[in-house]
Amino acid sequence: MRRKLIVGNWKMYGRLASNRALLEAILAGVRELRGADYAVCVPYPYLAQVQSLLQGSNVAWGAQNLNQYEEGAFTGAVAPGMLTDFGCSYVIIGHSERRGLFHESNEIADAKFTATLKAGMKPIFCVGETLAERESGVTEQVVATQLDAVLSHAGVQTLSNAVIAYEPVWAIGTGKTAAPSQAQTVHAFIRERVAKHDSQVAQSLCILYGGSVKANNAAELFAMPDIDGGLVGGASLVASEFLAICRAGARA
Ligand code: 13P
Repeated sequence: MRRKLIVGNWKMYGRLASNRALLEAILAGVRELRGADYAVCVPYPYLAQVQSLLQGSNVAWGAQNLNQYEEGAFTGAVAPGMLTDFGCSYVIIGHSERRGLFHESNEIADAKFTATLKAGMKPIFCVGETLAERESGVTEQVVATQLDAVLSHAGVQTLSNAVIAYEPVWAIGTGKTAAPSQAQTVHAFIRERVAKHDSQVAQSLCILYGGSVKANNAAELFAMPDIDGGLVGGASLVASEFLAICRAGARA
């Protein structure tokens, strides 16, 4: 039985004062919710704040990106070891906003995936199709190509220390959610593709759904057999919304 995981992706939102209020409310709300795992992935400058507030709690934390190199002349970049210095457990890799807005290729996402594991953190590796790709019937092909970048290079065993997030690009920040059955179909496809390499890794693999997960749709998404939790954007910035999603995860 896989445990549900609920991860907040704060994206480029937050300030010291509002972060504190949000985290204190989340901590109070999930303290007794032992049925699932929780994490927040925050902007780099707030890692120290998040570490000091969440240390010793049942909420883990992480970053939204890293540089694949250990150190060097890479102005503006953040190395994996800098994230472990601040206690990060997770790093979101290959988010569609990184792929689209920052031109990250499958090769770069794969290198960052490997760098995350090497530093002892868990990558949350994002895959997903655009609306045009869905409408032209190539969803599975797109997801397979993104997944294979990791499977063929890093190898299937690396997925036993990783999380996959299926995030249909057309459902991100749009308020449009994939219907639970639509999401389930892609999640099952991902698990089957991994199972072709290693059925045990596939069975224990945590596959999150991301794309307008809200308090009012979390329970039906999490009821699907291959949806193991959520990667939550906008709703993770509102304590009552995020907590309702956490409760849905703990109950599922
Ligand atoms: P929203 O929940 O705001 O649609 O964002 C989803 C997402 O991109 C999570 O990584």
